[in-house]
Amino acid sequence: MYVGADYYPEHWPRERWEVDAKLMQEAEFNVVRLAEFAWIDMEPMEGQYEFGWLDDALAILDKHGVSAILCTPTATMPAWAPRKYPEVMAMQPDGERITWGVRKNNCFTSGTYRLLSERITRAMAEHFVDTPNLIGWQTDNEFGGPVCFCDTCRADFQDWLRAKYGTIDEVNRAWGTHFWSHKYTTWGEIEIPHPSGRAGRLAGPDYLSTHNPSLCLDFQRYHSHLNVRFQRDQVRILRALCPKHFVTHNLMGSYSDLNYYDLAEDLDHVSWDNYPVWGAPSIPYQSSAAADVMRGVKRKNFWIMEQTAGPGGWSAFGRNPRPGEIRKVAYQQLAHGADGQVWFRWRTCTAGREQYWHGLLGHDGKPLRRYQEAAQTAKEYHKLAPELEGTTVEAKVAIIYDYETIWALRIQPGFEGNSYHSAMMRYYSALVRAGVNVDMIKPTEDFSQYRLVIAPDFYLVPDEVAQKLSDYVKGGGVLLADCRLAVKDETNLCYDRTLPGLLSDTLGIAIEEYEAMDDDMEYRVVGKDVVAGDYTAVKYVDWTTPKGADVLATFDQWHLESFAAATRNRSGKGTAYYVGAVVSEPAFYDQLIADMLKTAGVSAHLAPPEGVEVSAREGGGKKLLFLVNHTEEKQQVAVPSGKQELLSGETTGDTITLDKYGVAVIKVQ
Ligand code: GAL
Repeated sequence: MYVGADYYPEHWPRERWEVDAKLMQEAEFNVVRLAEFAWIDMEPMEGQYEFGWLDDALAILDKHGVSAILCTPTATMPAWAPRKYPEVMAMQPDGERITWGVRKNNCFTSGTYRLLSERITRAMAEHFVDTPNLIGWQTDNEFGGPVCFCDTCRADFQDWLRAKYGTIDEVNRAWGTHFWSHKYTTWGEIEIPHPSGRAGRLAGPDYLSTHNPSLCLDFQRYHSHLNVRFQRDQVRILRALCPKHFVTHNLMGSYSDLNYYDLAEDLDHVSWDNYPVWGAPSIPYQSSAAADVMRGVKRKNFWIMEQTAGPGGWSAFGRNPRPGEIRKVAYQQLAHGADGQVWFRWRTCTAGREQYWHGLLGHDGKPLRRYQEAAQTAKEYHKLAPELEGTTVEAKVAIIYDYETIWALRIQPGFEGNSYHSAMMRYYSALVRAGVNVDMIKPTEDFSQYRLVIAPDFYLVPDEVAQKLSDYVKGGGVLLADCRLAVKDETNLCYDRTLPGLLSDTLGIAIEEYEAMDDDMEYRVVGKDVVAGDYTAVKYVDWTTPKGADVLATFDQWHLESFAAATRNRSGKGTAYYVGAVVSEPAFYDQLIADMLKTAGVSAHLAPPEGVEVSAREGGGKKLLFLVNHTEEKQQVAVPSGKQELLSGETTGDTITLDKYGVAVIKVQ
C-alpha cells in the first residue's frame, strides 16, 4: 500500500528537503509524486538536461524510505519552446495563439511539440531508469485540452475522417449534411466546430452548440484520440526504457472530454484526482460514483494521485476540511478500490497561481492538524494492507457508462439540465442508500456477469447493443432504462423508428411523443404497487404507451391519463423496467431500486442509515466491509456481530457506533 503526497522539492530551498523527507517518514508516507511541472528545471535550454537536483531530492527521499513516481512534465512547457517554435501553442478560433504562461496550452498535432515531449520523456527515462526508489511514471497531467483551431489540427481532423469514412459521400451520408446546405464536396471544406467564444477545454454542454451534431460528435472522438495519441508517444518510450516501472495517468473521475477507456489502454492502472471538499458539507456520493467509474475504466483497482488536503482555489479558496474529513474522504476511495493514496499537496506553495491551494502543511511548513490526520490515515492503511491485498469491489449491479452517449447528450441534451451524469446519479445515489456496490461498465461488456444492469439516459444505442440488452433480459437479466433511450445511432442521427426502437418489445412499451417542461411546470405522478406514493415529474416526460408492460406509475394530469410514468415488463426469463419521467423525490427511486434488487435477487451488504456509506472489498477468500459516516452526527449501524473491526481490533456486537466522519472496516470473512 502506497501512501504519500504530491511533492515539489524545486519550490523549496535544498536545506528543507531533508526536513520534509523526515516528516514524511514520521507520517509513514512511502511515496511522493515528483516533477509534474518541472520541465524548465530539467531542460533549462532545449536539449540541455539538468537532472542533478532531482537525483539529490530522490536520494534524500530514499534515505527516509520514500519511493517516487516521476511525471513527464509536458503539461507546462518552458518559455523557450513557444519562443522558438510558436506552433506549439494552441490556436484560438480567432486565429490568435494562446499566450504562453498558464498550463495545458499546447497544440496536440504540432509535430514539434510531440517531438519535444518525446525528447524530455526519453531523457528522463534514460537518466532515471536505475534510480532505486523510482517505482513508476505519471504521463503529463490531467489530459483533456485544449482544443486547437490551427491549420494542422484542421487538416489532421480531415485525415482522421478520411481514414474513418473513406469517401466524402460517406461523410455526407453519415452526418446528414443535406440539412442547411451543409453537403461537402471536398475534405478541405470540413471545419473544426467551434463555439462563438474562445478556445479552451470542451467545457459545458453549450460548447458545440450550433454546428451539425454529427460533426460535433466526430470532433469529440477526434479530440479524445489526439490526447490518447500524445500519451501513447510517451508510453512507448517509457515501456521500452523502463520496463520495470508502472505507467499511470491522473484522470479526473467523471470529467468526460476524453474517452477514458481508450486513454487507459496504454496504462498499467489509472489514478485520479479527487477534490470533493467544496461548499457546505454534503454527502459526496459523486466521489463514490467517480471512484466506480475509475475502477471500471480498466476493471481494476486504481490510485488516488491527488486528493483534498486543505482549502483549494486558484484565486478565492473554499472551505477547510473539518477534523476527520481528510481521513473520511480517503476511506471512501479505499472502500471503492483505491490501492494508492496521494494527497495534493505536501506543503502550500508561497508562489504562483496555486498559493491558495492548501496542502497538508501550511505556508509555514509546520506539521499541524491536516498533516497529523493524513499521518494517522497512512499508519492505519499500512496496518490494513495485508487484509486489503488481493481485494477489490465485486458488484452484481452495473451501470452502463458510455462516453458516446455522454458526448451526444452534451451536444444536444434534449431537455434543459439533462446530462448523463445527472440521470445516472438518480439511480446511483439510490443504490448507495440501499447499501449495494455498483460497477460502471462499457456497453460492449458482457452483461451476463450482472444480475441488474441500469442504462440511464442511454441515448446513443447501436443496434447490436440494443440486441445485447434484449438478449440479456431474455436470458434472465434485470434491466432498467429511462428517458431518451435509444434516440440516436452511432453517427448521432435520430433513428427513424418509434421509441425506444429495438428495445420496445423487451420493455413492452412504445413512445410516440414526449415533452420537455420549463422550471415552472410539473406533473403529479401516482405510484402504485412497489412504488406506491405521490411524486412529482419535472423537466421531462415520455408519453409512454404500455404494450404489455405492467404500469407502476401514472400521471395525474388530463392529457397524460393514458400514459405510464413507470413500467415493468417480463421478457423471456428476465424483467425490464422503464421510467419515462424525471422524478424529484428520491423516495421514488429508493422504492424502485428496492423492487429491482428483489427481482434480481441482489441483497445489500447491510442497511446503512442515511449518510453512512457501505462498500465491500473482497478477494482471496476475504471480505471487508467499509463503513463511512459522511454526517456530522454519531451514527449507529446494525452490523454482523462477532466479527473483527480492523481499526480498533475489537469484536463487533449487533451494532457499531461511528463518530462524526467516523469510519470502520469490518472483516466479515
Ligand atoms: C489538479 C492538478 C494539480 C493542481 C490541482 C490544484 O487539477 O492536477 O496540478 O493544479 O489541480 O489546482
